[in-house]
Amino acid sequence: MAILKVARLGHPVLRKVAEPVAIEGIKSPQVQQFIDDLIETMIEYDGAGLAAPQVHVSQQIVVFEVQGNPRYPDAESIPLTVLINPKITPQTKEADEDWEGCLSVPDLRGKVPRFTQVKIEAYDRQGKRLNYVAKGFEARVAQHECDHLLGKVFLDRMTSMESLSFVKEFMRYQIGKQAEKE
Ligand code: NI
Repeated sequence: MAILKVARLGHPVLRKVAEPVAIEGIKSPQVQQFIDDLIETMIEYDGAGLAAPQVHVSQQIVVFEVQGNPRYPDAESIPLTVLINPKITPQTKEADEDWEGCLSVPDLRGKVPRFTQVKIEAYDRQGKRLNYVAKGFEARVAQHECDHLLGKVFLDRMTSMESLSFVKEFMRYQIGKQAEKE
């Protein structure tokens, strides 16, 4: 296991369209080791998710998991998920705006509209086909992570930059009222 270096905005790897993974290679020790490292790196930096291009590997692999994450204390939990060559299809025209951050865009938060319900088609880490519908925060995280495979970051999806905040100011002015009471 290894903690991988996270690419920050400006690194060209974050703007490339990632290559699909060869299905016959999913069970190889190299791919399995890489998935383990991706998960370990996500956990180390308290990410809700991480996409392979964020660790300088331009391949279509994302991981996400939310369980008592200090970066997202009020978020509903999401089981550990590995998606390989994912395809995301909106199941509704309805979009919700909520706050997002990204390990590749450190220290910033912004409000991003995302579809509230999406179909996810992908392979899991055993090479089994996945086909399911995700809603709410899980749908948001899946859209955020899969965007990285298209060379997109959350800033590209914001319809206005007005909400863009540094984490310190976000804590003070967006969740400050809660903290003041304590
Ligand atoms: Ni991200």
